[in-house]
Amino acid sequence: MEKIYQASTAEGAIDFINMRDLEIAAEEVIPKGGYGYISSGAGDIFTYQENERAFNHKLIIPHVLKDIELPDTTLSFGGNTLSAPIIMAPVAAHGLANVAAEQASAKGVSRFGTIYTASSYASCTLEEIRAAGGQEAPQWFQFYMSKDDGINKDILAMAKRNGAKAIVLTADATVGGNRETDRRNGFTFPLAMPIVQAYQSGIGQTMDAVYGSSKQKLSPQDVAFIAKESDLPVYVKGVQSEEDVERALGAGAQGIWVSNHGGRQLDGGPASFDSLQIVAEAVAGRAPIVFDSGVRRGQHVFKAIACGADLVAIGRPVIYGLALGGATGVQQVFDFFKKELEMVMQLAGTQTVADIKKAVLRDNRYL
Ligand code: FNR
Ligand code: LAC
Repeated sequence: MEKIYQASTAEGAIDFINMRDLEIAAEEVIPKGGYGYISSGAGDIFTYQENERAFNHKLIIPHVLKDIELPDTTLSFGGNTLSAPIIMAPVAAHGLANVAAEQASAKGVSRFGTIYTASSYASCTLEEIRAAGGQEAPQWFQFYMSKDDGINKDILAMAKRNGAKAIVLTADATVGGNRETDRRNGFTFPLAMPIVQAYQSGIGQTMDAVYGSSKQKLSPQDVAFIAKESDLPVYVKGVQSEEDVERALGAGAQGIWVSNHGGRQLDGGPASFDSLQIVAEAVAGRAPIVFDSGVRRGQHVFKAIACGADLVAIGRPVIYGLALGGATGVQQVFDFFKKELEMVMQLAGTQTVADIKKAVLRDNRYL
C-alpha cells in the first residue's frame, strides 16, 4: 500500500520560548522523511553548525544613557514599508510541513508585513500564493531555471503576472549538497511542484533528480537573460566572495543574496555570517544585500544588519512555525524575531534600523 504523506493540518497559536523549541516540537508533527529533508545539513554538517556559531565572532556593545525607548524595526524597502528587516527565504515544498503549504506561509508573512520569497519548487501555484498573500503583499520569486529557455520565459512571465517584485536566481545549488539524511531516509518528494511542472513533476524524485532536471550550467548570461525577460530586479543568491560579487553585479544583478543555503550545499565552506563581512565590503553600497543561513535570534538579525545586510532572511524556523501553527505559527515566528530585535536595539542604544547600520561590533578576541 502506497504510504500517503500526511503533513500537519495545524492552524492556530503555538506556545514556544525560542526557535530551538520549535525545531524540536516540529519533529513530532512532520513525517520523518520531510523533517529530515527540512532540518538536515550537508555532509558532516560543519558549515551548518558554523552558521550559528559564527555570530559569536562579533559582539554587540551595549550602550547606556542613549535616550532610547520603543525601538522602531520598520523600514521602507522597494516601495513597501516592512515591519522589520526580516523576510522569508525561499524554501521548497511547504506541503511537507503543513497541508495548507505556501498558502498558509504566504498569509502569515503578509499578516506580519514583510517580503515573501516563493520557491520554484513550491507545493502551490504562484496564483495561489498571490491570492493567499493578497494583491499588495511584496512577493519575490526564486528561480531554478529549466534547461529550456522557452520554458524559462514562460515561468518568468508567470512570476511577473503574479506580481513578483524581484527575481532571485539561486546560483549555489547547481547540484545537490551531500544530503546524507535524505539518503538514509530514502527521501523522495511526495508532492508536485506545479510552478515548474513544464520541466519536472517532483513527485517520487530525489533532491538530486530534481536538481538534475534544472539548469546546472549557470553563467552571467543567465542573469542578463532573466533581467531582460522579466524586467525586474535580479538578486543572485549564494554569493560568498568578492569575485562572485563582481561577476553578479557585472552581469546586471541588482541585488546580492549572501547565503550558504543554510549549510545544505557545500559542507566545509565558511559560515554565511563570516562571508557577509567580505561581501558587504566588496559590494560597497552598489546594491542591496540580503543575508541568510543560521539566523535563530534577534541578535543575529542585529549583527547581520550592522555588518552590511539590508534584509535578513529566515528559512527553517518559518517552516517549523508552519507545521505547528499554520499561518498563525508563521506570523508568530516573525513576531519572535521582531520582539527579540527590539530588545537588542534597546540594550544596544539603537532607535532605528538606520542606527543599527551604524552600530560598531567588536571582534570576539576570546574565541
Ligand atoms: C531551502 N533553501 C532553498 N533556497 C532556494 O534558493 N530555493 C529553494 O527552493 C530552497 N529550498 C529549501 C528547502 C529547505 C527545506 C530548506 C531548509 C532550505 C535555502 C533557503 O533559501 C535559505 O538559504 C536557508 O534555509 C537559510 O538557512 P536557515 O534559515 O534555514 O538556517
Ligand atoms: C533545497 C533546495 C530545494 O535546499 O534548494 O532543498
